Amino acid sequence: MIKPEDPIEILDAMEQGILALNAQGKIEVFNASLERTCGLSRESTLGKSLADVFPAEEWLHPLYQRFLRHGNSVTLHDQSLSNRVPVSLTISPLWGQKDAVRGTVVGAVLVFQDLSLIKKVQEHFLKSDRLSYIGLVASGLAHEIKNPLTAIRGAAQLLAKEIPQGTESIQCCRVIVEETDRMNRLLEELLTLGRPHRIEVRPVNINQILDELILLESKSPTAKGIEFIKEFDPSLPYVPGDEEKLRQVFLNLIRNAVEAIKETGTVWVRSKFATEYVTIDPGEKKKTHILVEIEDNGSGIPEEEQEKIFIPFYTTKPKGTGLGLPLCLQIIKEHKGTIKAHSTPEKGTLFQIALATSEWEGEFKR
Ligand SMILES: Nc1ncnc2c1ncn2[C@@H]1O[C@H](COP(=O)(O)OP(=O)(O)O)[C@@H](O)[C@H]1O
Ligand SMILES: [Mg+2]
Repeated sequence: MIKPEDPIEILDAMEQGILALNAQGKIEVFNASLERTCGLSRESTLGKSLADVFPAEEWLHPLYQRFLRHGNSVTLHDQSLSNRVPVSLTISPLWGQKDAVRGTVVGAVLVFQDLSLIKKVQEHFLKSDRLSYIGLVASGLAHEIKNPLTAIRGAAQLLAKEIPQGTESIQCCRVIVEETDRMNRLLEELLTLGRPHRIEVRPVNINQILDELILLESKSPTAKGIEFIKEFDPSLPYVPGDEEKLRQVFLNLIRNAVEAIKETGTVWVRSKFATEYVTIDPGEKKKTHILVEIEDNGSGIPEEEQEKIFIPFYTTKPKGTGLGLPLCLQIIKEHKGTIKAHSTPEKGTLFQIALATSEWEGEFKR
């Protein structure tokens, strides 16, 4: 219980970082929240000036000077404390009790508001905003581009029939066909991202999809030198989902895994029950989940790049589209599932997809 006569405890219980300066500009109060944010102990700050305690916060000193000049509250948003915590800061005058009416300033109170959570929410909305914007542009453009592309492809194929085999010109025709195919795939991906469509839910045999995809991918020329290891739980139930879309997700992830391996390496594809992963819908019973894991021992993703991989058009590949993972994220969200990436640079990457099974439980369980 906080006793009103214990002001330090009250300040320590506050979420905001609070600091008070006396008339000489020396720190008299430094609360627990600020200790945590800055990684400084109260004892090491008391009696010191702002410049002593915050030498790296260049934005703070002009703000304090402005406060001293005007004597009114001043606020600055979107600054960074200890180089990592986003904060806003308000500096307000501390009035002497007896002199409150006459307005003698006896010090200043600094209130730091931690913006980390707000930033996270903003980023989330930014991402989904960008997705819907791309959707608009895509549906407008894609159809317009698709028709002439089909014509170009057809014409190149016709030409190829007229040209003798083994010549350079026939190579050119092949390049035209291959490149139009690539553009077509890009447009398809854009269109899929753009359409906010519903998924067609049916019971899906996840192991079977994974099996077929591995068979297909292991035959592709890019998968030369790559070993696929299947670790499936045969007792997995059917999962409610859109088979075609889930196929697209797993194919994207397996292709990314293959593309992350330079020459030789391994891709593990696992299916299992997610024993540790249980969600409870409001008013509903517990949901069991299955987990699909696609892991590779390829290049890995640099730490500072990891948060960007689900953003549309982020790609590190010369011929990449940067739409594979945003598409996966969208499809898994439509399934009310989750997709997570864990990556260690130079070691490899693990993607985990959790999908709920419970809607079909009993009904479709093998
Ligand atoms: N398994 C992986 N290993 C390493 N990097 C990956 C992996 N999966 C995705 N990435 C990174 O994320 C980026 C975006 O992937 P994606 O959206 O599928 O687009 P694309 O494959 O067209 O580049 C890739 O360019 C790559 O840098
Ligand atoms: Mg990809």
